[in-house]
Amino acid sequence: MNPGIDDLPVRDELRGKSPYGAPQLDVPVRLNTNENPYPLPEPLVERITERVREAARDLNRYPDRDAVELRTALAAYLTRTGGHRVGVENVWAANGSNEVIQQLLQAFGGPGRTAIGFEPSYSMHALIARGTGTGWISGPRGEDFTIDLPAAEKAIAEHRPDVVFVTTPNNPTGNAVPAETVIALYDAAQAAKPSMVVVDEAYIEFSHGASLLPLLEGRPHLVVSRTMSKAFGAAGLRLGYLAAHPAVVDAVQLVRLPYHLSAITQVTALAALEHTDTLLKYVEQLKGERDRLVTELRAMGYEVTESDANFVQFGRFADSHAAWRRILDRGVLVRDNGVPGRLRVSAGTPAENDAFLDAVRDLKNEQEQSG
Ligand SMILES: Cc1ncc(COP(=O)(O)O)c(C=O)c1O
Repeated sequence: MNPGIDDLPVRDELRGKSPYGAPQLDVPVRLNTNENPYPLPEPLVERITERVREAARDLNRYPDRDAVELRTALAAYLTRTGGHRVGVENVWAANGSNEVIQQLLQAFGGPGRTAIGFEPSYSMHALIARGTGTGWISGPRGEDFTIDLPAAEKAIAEHRPDVVFVTTPNNPTGNAVPAETVIALYDAAQAAKPSMVVVDEAYIEFSHGASLLPLLEGRPHLVVSRTMSKAFGAAGLRLGYLAAHPAVVDAVQLVRLPYHLSAITQVTALAALEHTDTLLKYVEQLKGERDRLVTELRAMGYEVTESDANFVQFGRFADSHAAWRRILDRGVLVRDNGVPGRLRVSAGTPAENDAFLDAVRDLKNEQEQSG
């Protein structure tokens, strides 16, 4: 017998479900997963090699369970760039911000509890909720993809969720959420429960506006999650982190696996943080390319959602999956996130973006000729 998943005694809520995964196809231009297109600079590669070699000598020992040196360096980075003083006691790190989110849901969600997100948004929030046994509530967004505040406040009052997710800049739409909206959602969540509010700032370094870290002041139920996968160009490293009241850091330590962050991960992240200034220069370039994509797509007549991220949502297409396929036929992989009539493209190198713009220009011409 060769059993499939459904022949195994898996949890009922996992039956018939598919794992997360953007299709990875071997094409010349891949602009589908919001990665940073620039490889790490050579001096940083050297520094990582040096630090990993040093750490390798101690691999017979478990790593620092509390990653104190790394959390101290992350706190310094946040304090320097986020407009708010953050100490080591405010910071927690894990294997990607997905693991940070998982730990938050393990600590504050779980069976009998619920979490809400305003969709379309980052689909892993709902998937991690499912994986941790947390009920998921799909909250509303307006026609223009902004959070419809009265409708969101109503949903919070009605469902009284234990965790509220706010993604800013939002993925896949690209738009940022104003601080006043987050404050209003926080107040609504406190009045309803009180619940935890997780602000997912995975793309914040690409924003025209500022981080919401200063909102942590006086809001012990607020958490800001971050990642080194985007601005630091280190998606392969798997390093995410959060900033919050020290009590939140104590709470996630109740659910984290012992020694969850390997010594290799810790030293590699430390090496990358030593090169913050160089890496943030690439962010500036990418912001320029993102703005160019917005301008050129609009000039071609596409509808483009305002973007504060390293990607752009554009449309409208009568059949977005057919449009995705036509762009792919021209060697460019973008993302169909299932948002009706829309596709998402990550900002790549100037040459990759040119290839993408050529492909969508062809598509437009083709559509105009046939329509
Ligand atoms: C909004 C958002 N949050 C979190 C993540 C996860 O990032 P990480 O690589 O840190 O797990 C992503 C990745 O695409 C994302 O889009």
